[in-house]
Amino acid sequence: MKITRFEADGFRNLKEVELSFDPELNILCGRNAQGKTNILEALWLCSGERSFRGAKDRELIGTDRDKMSLLLDFEDARRTQSISYTMLRRDMKNKKLTLNGVNVRTPSGLFGALGCVIFTPEDLGLSKGAPENRRSFIDLSVSQIKVSYRDVVDKYRRILDQRNLHLKNLAGGRQDDGMLDIWDMQLAQMGAYISVLRYNYCKKLRNTAAELFSELSGGAESFEIEYHSTVFKELDGRNDYRNDLFGEYLERLKSSRRDDIGAGFTIHGIHRDDIKCSINGLYAKDFASQGQHRSIALILKLSQAYILSGEVGDTPCILLDDVLSELDGMRRSFIMEKIHGMQVIITCCEEEAVRGYRGKLFRVEGGRASEN
Ligand SMILES: Nc1ncnc2c1ncn2[C@@H]1O[C@H](COP(=O)(O)OP(=O)(O)OP(=O)(O)O)[C@@H](O)[C@H]1O
Ligand SMILES: [Mg+2]
Repeated sequence: MKITRFEADGFRNLKEVELSFDPELNILCGRNAQGKTNILEALWLCSGERSFRGAKDRELIGTDRDKMSLLLDFEDARRTQSISYTMLRRDMKNKKLTLNGVNVRTPSGLFGALGCVIFTPEDLGLSKGAPENRRSFIDLSVSQIKVSYRDVVDKYRRILDQRNLHLKNLAGGRQDDGMLDIWDMQLAQMGAYISVLRYNYCKKLRNTAAELFSELSGGAESFEIEYHSTVFKELDGRNDYRNDLFGEYLERLKSSRRDDIGAGFTIHGIHRDDIKCSINGLYAKDFASQGQHRSIALILKLSQAYILSGEVGDTPCILLDDVLSELDGMRRSFIMEKIHGMQVIITCCEEEAVRGYRGKLFRVEGGRASEN
């Protein structure tokens, strides 16, 4: 998948940006706070995703502007497509979105058209930080392959929040009105489904990542990744989320209800699961060095791109926000070699960091971008 043209105006600090991208390598270069990451964020939103900065709608419109608009053309293996995304300050709920000229109701309606993989400096701590980051990584990866998955995860979250609030009320002496039974059924249905999809994705990840990791470390290190469920002892070979797994999940919720009320939240479930990474048999979170954590992040992101390519039959567009300067020469060449052939858009502050790369160079300054 290759983005051919991109326009942005009124998005954060961006002004009349018009870029025609190279099918392979694009470098956005400029000093700090000029708008480089804003461009990547805008591209990312066009893929139907939420901001990787967790931004709210109102933060996306330029503070001195009434409107933001994005336009993007891209080519996949079969055709050229276009996306437009407009939002008015006075009516932010009603965004105007189109995919190939057809209105799309919500940003998630754009999902599945333009495939992107984003890699930011925050991702470098993926194997070190909170489990929530790893769950989000897996959920995002799965949803890129199975578009409807994200709605299930969102709905699970909403019901979980209601259940947790209710648990606190019960701890405070309120009587149960039967709602817990209803929510438990729903959580068990969705939770069993999510567990299966996450587990199966992790299995693919394990193979792809192990191969890449071994290559990166010259065969010295073996990498393993495992899905750790707080509900199921064993998920391997089990796909029956409508019956057996649903039943077990429900049982788990029921049996821990008393503890849940005591704790004021739901102790078991996919919202507490984790993805465990290890190198040479040692659990990365406790044992890996800084460099090994970086290698893991790099390999997980690369694997995400490879698996996505395989599943949708086209390469994603790779967005690298400032990560090259964070990697040493060996890891930098490794990632550049492995994404060769995919379209890449890189941001950097110093041209030095990308010297020797062949591609289009754009300068970003004060929210404007121009081709060098
Ligand atoms: N809604 C907004 N309206 C106007 N300006 C905004 C808005 N949101 C962010 N900005 C501005 O955008 C600039 C940051 O842009 P961006 O994060 O893209 O910088 P950058 O070029 O990636 O810098 P760095 O190299 O430091 O990462 C800041 O000056 C910030 O004040
Ligand atoms: Mg930036």
